[in-house]
Amino acid sequence: MYSRIAGTGRYLPATVLTNDELSQRVDTSDEWIRARTGIRQRHVAAADEMTSDLALPAAREALAAAGIAAADIDLIIVATTTPDMIFPSTACILQAKLGTGTGPAFDVQAVCSGFVYGVALADRMIVGGAARNALVVGAEIYSRILDWTDRRTCVLFGDGAGAAVLVPATSPGILSVHLHADGRYHDILCVPGQVSDGAVTGTPFVQMEGGAVFKYGVKVMAEVAEEALRANKMTANEIDWLIPHQANIRIMDAAAQRLGLPPERVVATVDQHANTSAASIPLALDIAVRDGRIRAGQHVLLVGVGGGFTWGSVLLRW
Ligand code: ACO
Repeated sequence: MYSRIAGTGRYLPATVLTNDELSQRVDTSDEWIRARTGIRQRHVAAADEMTSDLALPAAREALAAAGIAAADIDLIIVATTTPDMIFPSTACILQAKLGTGTGPAFDVQAVCSGFVYGVALADRMIVGGAARNALVVGAEIYSRILDWTDRRTCVLFGDGAGAAVLVPATSPGILSVHLHADGRYHDILCVPGQVSDGAVTGTPFVQMEGGAVFKYGVKVMAEVAEEALRANKMTANEIDWLIPHQANIRIMDAAAQRLGLPPERVVATVDQHANTSAASIPLALDIAVRDGRIRAGQHVLLVGVGGGFTWGSVLLRW
């Protein structure tokens, strides 16, 4: 028994914020942002949009692509750092909006690695017989946890959602999953705030040691990609598409270079969406599937990395 991704979907909020528009708010420029990150624009959720509202159309699109009815989904995993509320989980809220049955629904908090963690969990649950059809969504509204006066962080992120439906398969599908975390690095990328006694304590905005995140991110992305190749006795040459977490084009290029993969085989959407954290990999996957780049039989390597520090890979045959 294996699992495979049967359909993908995405949703981006209507409002687009360009680098030029951002440079009206903080002391930055389109040139600086593009040169350091590759980002040209990001989408920003409307004031009345919640993370589950972004997840819903992405999920519906993935269900339609998979040809699976909402009622036949018996596992929902939402990867998010920006849930609708403290509890219940955004996955439960999404379940109600979708009108699926009463299978388990829960959120995964692995920051930008969340989608890879979610797909790995769904795969293991399908293979183990605990679920049949799983919906995995990465959805984020980072615009609400950014200090819009801090040019070091506010230029980097965007809002969006991507989704995938996983179903049982008699051949892979998902070839391997590898997940890691190293909590000793929890403070190089964090939102060190909390709600306590009815008030926010600490800092409710993204804090980041950019240089440390860059170095560590490149290292672990390359390592976990190599781990996937070794586990499947494959070489980088056999990877048709690398879909790394879309943090920053320089991190993505450096990781691909370490693997020996040319930029043409890397799916990059960071220019259009910026870093959408857990949504970045499913957004890029959906785009590459729908524009025909990813074709049946090809090998696709998803590599996530994010706060925690967390990282992981999913190698699949499409
Ligand atoms: N516009 C203009 N100038 C800026 C901006 C900005 N938006 N941000 C910082 N600067 C300035 C700094 O103040 C500094 O000025 P100074 O020399 O006068 O003090 C100068 O630019 C250089 O700053 P550095 O931080 O050294 O710039 P660096 O070249 O390291 O680039 C960056 C910063 C892009 C954040 C880089 O460290 C990086 O890519 N880090 C990875 C972080 C990342 O991608 N995070 C995303 C989340 S991580 C994840 O998802 C896993």
